[in-house]
Amino acid sequence: MTSKTSIKTLLILGASGDLTGRLLLPGLARLVASGLADGLKLVGAGSDPWTPQQWTKRVRGAFGEAGKDADAAGKKAVASMEDNTAYHQLDVTADGQLAALLAGLEAPVAVYFALPPHISQKACEVINAADLPAGTRLVMEKPFGSSADSARELNKTLAALVPEDHIHRVDHFLGKATVLNILGLRFANRFLEPVWNRDHIEKVEVIFDEDLALEGRARYYDNAGALKDMIQSHLLHIMALLAIDAPATIGERDLRGAIATVLRASSIGAPYRKTTRRARYSAGRSGGHPVPDYVEEEGVDPARNTETLAEVEVAIDNWRWRGVPFILRSGKALGRARKEAIITFRPVPHLPSGFQGVDSPNQLRIGFGPDTLQLDVDVNGPGDIFTLDRVTLNSELNASDLLPYGEVLEGVITGDPLLSVRGDTAVDCWRIVEPVLKAWAKDSVPLEEYDAGGSGPVDWPTAVGR
Ligand code: BG6
Repeated sequence: MTSKTSIKTLLILGASGDLTGRLLLPGLARLVASGLADGLKLVGAGSDPWTPQQWTKRVRGAFGEAGKDADAAGKKAVASMEDNTAYHQLDVTADGQLAALLAGLEAPVAVYFALPPHISQKACEVINAADLPAGTRLVMEKPFGSSADSARELNKTLAALVPEDHIHRVDHFLGKATVLNILGLRFANRFLEPVWNRDHIEKVEVIFDEDLALEGRARYYDNAGALKDMIQSHLLHIMALLAIDAPATIGERDLRGAIATVLRASSIGAPYRKTTRRARYSAGRSGGHPVPDYVEEEGVDPARNTETLAEVEVAIDNWRWRGVPFILRSGKALGRARKEAIITFRPVPHLPSGFQGVDSPNQLRIGFGPDTLQLDVDVNGPGDIFTLDRVTLNSELNASDLLPYGEVLEGVITGDPLLSVRGDTAVDCWRIVEPVLKAWAKDSVPLEEYDAGGSGPVDWPTAVGR
């Protein structure tokens, strides 16, 4: 495979942190092993005083699996990156330190801020455009800011450094094959688009229930909760892809423009007691392990009232979707990992009398990871030809060899922001959830409980079997 690399150096800030080891390096390794990052140099920087050996050990550990499955050229590329990587101890918020490091790196450089948002903000404030080598790309991890105002502020700081199309705001859900699978399904099938609107669709649900619990992430998660962690960006993006008008091209301007248009029209209306729900888990068993009460998990402050399951009903006020609820739900420590979008069609206007049996509305379900497609249709028989029966047409959708972080990084190093969140969209995602966060902070919506390992509160609209 020919390399499309244009970035020469990938500098990871926060290199000794958890995200780098768990997600970023494995994603990068797949990319390198596929021949998509030839000649790219990896440089790590962090506040920990790591030796070069410690860093190389971390890189080798994270790269191990990808190297094993690669062909000879891929193995060579992986080994070369492992052998040529360097680590620098750095305080990114101190004047001049990051600028000095950048000056010594081969340009163009992609700077990956794998750091908490307030540190990223500070780090960007202590550098100037003049410190950045030509062609620098800035890659910002989620969450991008912590409110619409702080996201706007961060946008302003970044805009003073590089042009918007050199800023990559990471949402790794955009790196999942799901994104392109949704677009292919929607826009390459003539029979779908004419019914993809309020006249024919009753509701759309996007559900991301995980069987994983807190996994020792209280420091981050207890300050975030399910709404900020999952719905604020990941699920709103999936929703937008299900709702956009057909873009002329799958280029960054057309696609990101279409996503922004939908999100601008989206909101969660009051009363929040009706349009939103929140809950947290109590002790049980999930993902094959015993799980304690959420409030007993290490590092959790019960006074924060953090929800581990959230559900919101988003309205998209435009011609196509007015009146159709988009219900987004995500939670942790549930009994079954349920990750899918469900499109429920309206019932037929008239079922000819004489037919018996099922005439429930058709559903189209798109499963996420592995990506699948299921379409429920009512057919005659078997047996009595006058009796309708439900069958489900099943298909597996394409899976990518690259991990989501690999897909996102490919965009970074080839200079394509298609799979990154645009600045105005990052602000809009906060604007949509902010009124709910405020209402929840005032306890206007009760914090319910569910057993870890169960399926969540039974009276929620998204409850299984409702
Ligand atoms: C992350 C969230 O962004 O996405 C996690 O912080 C969540 O809480 C994860 O578990 C889900 O994504 P994936 O790709 O691991 O299924």
